[in-house]
This record gives sequence, structure tokens and C-alpha cells, in this order.
Amino acid sequence: MGRHTKLSVNINKFATIRNARGGNNPDLIQVAKDCEAFGAEGITVHPRPDERHVRKADVYALKEIVTTEFNIEGYPSPEFISLIHDIKPEQVTLVPDPPDALTSNAGWDTIKYEDYLKSIIEDLKKSAGRVSIFLEANPDLLSTAKSTGADRIELYTEPYAIQYASDKTSAISPFKETAKLAGELGLGVNAGHDLSLENLNFLTSQLPELQEVSIGHALVCDALYHGLQNTIQMYLSELDTMPR
Ligand code: PXP
Repeated sequence: MGRHTKLSVNINKFATIRNARGGNNPDLIQVAKDCEAFGAEGITVHPRPDERHVRKADVYALKEIVTTEFNIEGYPSPEFISLIHDIKPEQVTLVPDPPDALTSNAGWDTIKYEDYLKSIIEDLKKSAGRVSIFLEANPDLLSTAKSTGADRIELYTEPYAIQYASDKTSAISPFKETAKLAGELGLGVNAGHDLSLENLNFLTSQLPELQEVSIGHALVCDALYHGLQNTIQMYLSELDTMPR
């Protein structure tokens, strides 16, 4: 039997294009509906304080129409926490990036921030179906990750994506080790950052624990050539360990 890892489409970049002209094209709500109609199994957003892509108002509007899994990523500022209590999404993914970061470029230091994360996660769980924390592939971070109360980890895959072209076996090795131990500790495993049609299937096939990926940048770039419907279908195929 094959396995299937779920695809959550990160729609930030569609909002970046919309914001470039100040109007409502593309319409983010229609984009989210279409992603779901084309097979996406979740919609991810990462509202940032400067609203440079997805805005707070978008998050409220998306809440009304997302029928799959709504995943909201972000740094747990007081504003973010209150947004989560309003929206009550299926999943929250906590990232440690400062407000002015271009994109998330590090995972949590769960040893240093164990108590901080524990209190935030306890609070967020009143409203979110599940809490995931963004983590580098390092098994040493897992026992404290578990004691924060997080349900899942999201593996930060940029280092994998960078090394994939030159040495995919070495690139996957810390991810395999971390995902396996996470599974043994009862933590679910997601992954994201720089995943693409090139590197996705190897990741999925090598990590039996992998439940969900969130993908934005490469998917939007591929959609420029193949169209959104074809592109989502192509990503879904890569996420099956057996061909469809
Ligand atoms: N996961 C997290 C925590 C992120 O911050 C991002 C980028 O917003 C992604 C996944 C998706 O990364 P990409 O756009 O490279 O697919």
C-alpha cells in the first residue's frame, strides 16, 4: 500500500502579487477555493505584522471559506495569539522569526525556549485544533519539543533542498533521524521550505512519518508555466509513495 502526504498550499505569494497593484487581482479567496477544488488538502498563510502579503483581513475572510485544513503560521506575538483565538484554525505553526524577516530561516531552540513555548502552546490549544512548531532537523531538540506540548513539528527543509542536488543521501540523513525519533515520541511530522517538484518525492519516500507539507514559492513559480490546476496535481502525485 502506498502512503500519501498531505499538501497544504501556502498562498502568501498570491497575496504578494495582488498587493503589487493595490487592487484585488488575483482574488485571494478565489485562489484558496480553486486550490481546494484542484486537490489541495490544506491552505496555509503566514500573516506578518507589516501585511506585505496576507493581511489580517484576509485571514478572517479565508476562515469563512476554507473547507480543508486552515494552517496559520507565525511568530507568537500578542496580536498573532489573539488572531488565533478569533479564527480557531485546524492548525497553528509557530515560527521563531522576528517581524522584519524576509522569510523563516531558522527553527525553534526548544531547549532555550521550552518554558516559553509551553505556556504559549497551552494557551493556543484552547483555540487551535493542533499546534506545530518549526524545527531544524536535529534529534537533540526533540525531547524538549515534546515537553512543550506541541502536537507536531514542522521540519525546516531549506538545508535539505540546498544539498539535494549535490548529495541527496547526506541531505536526507538528519531529516530521517529526526522524523523517526519524533514518531517514537508521539510527535506528528510536517515539513516545509523550499520544497519543489524536484526534491519532494525523495523526501516523502524517505520519511514514512511525514504527514503534511506546506509549499508556496516553488508551487507558484511552477503554476506560471503549467497552470494552477496542473501544478497542484503534479505536486499531489509527488506526494504519493506509489505512482497514482
Ligand atoms: N513553512 C514555513 C514555516 C514558512 O515560513 C514557509 C514560507 O512562508 C513555508 C513553509 C513555505 O516555504 P516555500 O514558500 O519555500 O515553499
